Amino acid sequence: MTSLLIVFGSITLVILPSLTGCEEDSAGQPGVGVSPDEALFLRVTRTDPFTAYSLFPNADSVTSGTLNGSNAHQPLVKVSMNAAAAGALQNGILPPGTAFPNGSIIFKEIIVSGETTLFAIMEKDSGNALAGNNWIWAELYPDGRVFYSVESRGGICVPCHLREQGPANDLVRTFERQN
Ligand code: HEC
Repeated sequence: MTSLLIVFGSITLVILPSLTGCEEDSAGQPGVGVSPDEALFLRVTRTDPFTAYSLFPNADSVTSGTLNGSNAHQPLVKVSMNAAAAGALQNGILPPGTAFPNGSIIFKEIIVSGETTLFAIMEKDSGNALAGNNWIWAELYPDGRVFYSVESRGGICVPCHLREQGPANDLVRTFERQN
């Protein structure tokens, strides 16, 4: 499979050929042959839909990125998390020495002119062969098309999420911009 890597300064786009021929069954559950990207898309839109997630505590719901490496996600972002992830927090922070449990999803919407144009997703799944540093990483369009595949194992994501306070916060960097 060929892929095209485009680097503009520190912004990296990976363009992969789209996946075809994988459909869910009539019950809306992942069927045989569903790709890891499609399975993740179903999870965040149906099984555990992002519309029910809670906002990342004490971080502006929509803000311009200002951290080291924030330019990967310009111009505006909104970060939320599912109940499994929220349950790991105490007083809005991840207690020192702890980690998010498997099943945690941190969900970031990239918003351009008021429209959500891309989902950046981290799902904790430490036993998954596709995990990079215990997380599944993907960027998916709101219609399910793939921008950055789960199957890339977070290769371009992990190094940046290991910067600054990333290692202390289980690679979740929005803690660094909490109020
Ligand atoms: C150039 C550095 C950089 C790269 C590359 C990068 N990120 Fe991030 N990411 C950040 C920073 C910094 C934040 C927090 C601040 C912000 O949102 O700008 C963040 C936030 C996130 C969040 C919200 C949870 C959190 O960690 O705060 C998700 C989800 C996310 N990124 C997913 C991804 C995925 C998936 C990839 C790879 C396709 C990726 N990121 C690549 C720097 C990066």
